Amino acid sequence: MLKIHILSSTDRPNSNALKVSRYAERTLKKHAQTKIFSLADFPLQDVAGGKYGKAPESVETFNNEFLDADGFLFVIPEYNGGFPGVLKVFTDYLPFPKAMYRVPVSLIGESAGAFGALRPVEQFEQILSYRNALIFPEKMLIQNVNDTFDENNGLESEKLEELLQKQLNDFPVFVESLKGELVNS
Ligand SMILES: Cc1cc2nc3c(=O)[nH]c(=O)nc-3n(C[C@H](O)[C@H](O)[C@H](O)COP(=O)(O)O)c2cc1C
Repeated sequence: MLKIHILSSTDRPNSNALKVSRYAERTLKKHAQTKIFSLADFPLQDVAGGKYGKAPESVETFNNEFLDADGFLFVIPEYNGGFPGVLKVFTDYLPFPKAMYRVPVSLIGESAGAFGALRPVEQFEQILSYRNALIFPEKMLIQNVNDTFDENNGLESEKLEELLQKQLNDFPVFVESLKGELVNS
C-alpha cells in the first residue's frame, strides 16, 4: 500500500496547520497508509548553534521516520508573508541531496489573510524545485482560515471543499503513477 506522510509545517501549539492536516488525512487514508508529523515535535533545541552536516540523532530519527514514504503533503501556514522559520530549519537538516529527490509532494496553504498562504506555498515550491521534488499541480489555498475552515466539516464553501477533496483524491493517483518509475532511480 502507498505511504503518504503529512507535515504540519509549524511548531505553533494548537495550530490550524495541524487541524487541516488531520482533516486532509481523513481523505488520504482511503488511498494510502498515512501518518501526520508536526514540526512542534521537531527537536529544534538540538540544532541550536548550527549542526549542519552532522545532524544530532534526534533529528536523524525525526527525518528518517518522516522520509519513509512514497509521497508527502505539506500543510503550510503564512507567517509574515512567508512560511514558518522552523520549516526552513527542518529542510536544512534533511539529508542532501537524497531527501525529496524525485519525490511527489502536494501542498496546502492556510492563512488568516485573504491570499491563503499563496506566498509561502510558492516560496516553498522554489525550495522543493531546487531539491528536485515532483510538485503536484493541484493545491488548495485556504483563505481566512479561522472563518472558512472547521476541522470536523472542512471548508465552508462547497466549491472549495470540492477542490480540496479533488486534490486529496488525485494526489495518491499521482504518487502511484510515479512509484517505481522515478523515485530512487
Ligand atoms: C508569526 C505569525 C505571522 C503571521 N503573519 C501572517 C501574514 O503575513 N499573513 C497572514 O495572512 N496571516 C499571518 N498570520 C496569521 C496566520 O496565517 C494564521 O493565524 C494561521 O492560521 C496560522 O497558522 P497556524 O495556526 O498553523 O500556526 C501570522 C501568524 C503568526 C503566528
